Amino acid sequence: MDEDVRVKHLLVVYHSRSGGTRAMAEAVLAGATDPAVEGVEVRARSPFEADVADVAWADGVILGTPAHFGYMSGALKDFFERVYESLLDRTRGLPWALFVKGRSDVDGAVSSVQRIVTGLAWREVQPPVTVVGEVTDADLDRCVELGGAMAAGLALDVF
Ligand SMILES: Cc1cc2nc3c(=O)[nH]c(=O)nc-3n(C[C@H](O)[C@H](O)[C@H](O)COP(=O)(O)O)c2cc1C
Repeated sequence: MDEDVRVKHLLVVYHSRSGGTRAMAEAVLAGATDPAVEGVEVRARSPFEADVADVAWADGVILGTPAHFGYMSGALKDFFERVYESLLDRTRGLPWALFVKGRSDVDGAVSSVQRIVTGLAWREVQPPVTVVGEVTDADLDRCVELGGAMAAGLALDVF
């Protein structure tokens, strides 16, 4: 790799109570850390741990959440509540993407995240990957693709 090319940073922030979103996250991380993509460092954080410094570090962000009561998880909401004010006008245009796991309906969870991120003026560069019900191998493949596409897009400066 050209040494003048800066390593890009991809932050993955996700929450999971019973493992479904975690399975998706692990697939996203597998895609993002595929050795075929050079020059991208990936950091995974719980929403309860992730802070303003993590987002400031990031050139791109992937968020993952279960659907809880028709909304994002309380954990991801906690993250936004802690970082939102500090990030306003500091992270405009940041490329981001979303994955959501639900039992019967994920639309409210998806739109709840999109609404908040719209306020930060980040750019959603991949369509959300959503799973309703059991996570299938095909779903995990879509998650691998999401992570790979985000990492490759950062590495190649296409966002
Ligand atoms: C408190 C709570 C609220 C939930 N609300 C919804 C909901 O509104 N819509 C839905 O489709 N699933 C809902 N579910 C189901 C979870 O989204 C689903 O089980 C998901 O797989 C959990 O992800 P996890 O395994 O990563 O924790 C809820 C689960 C819990 C525990």
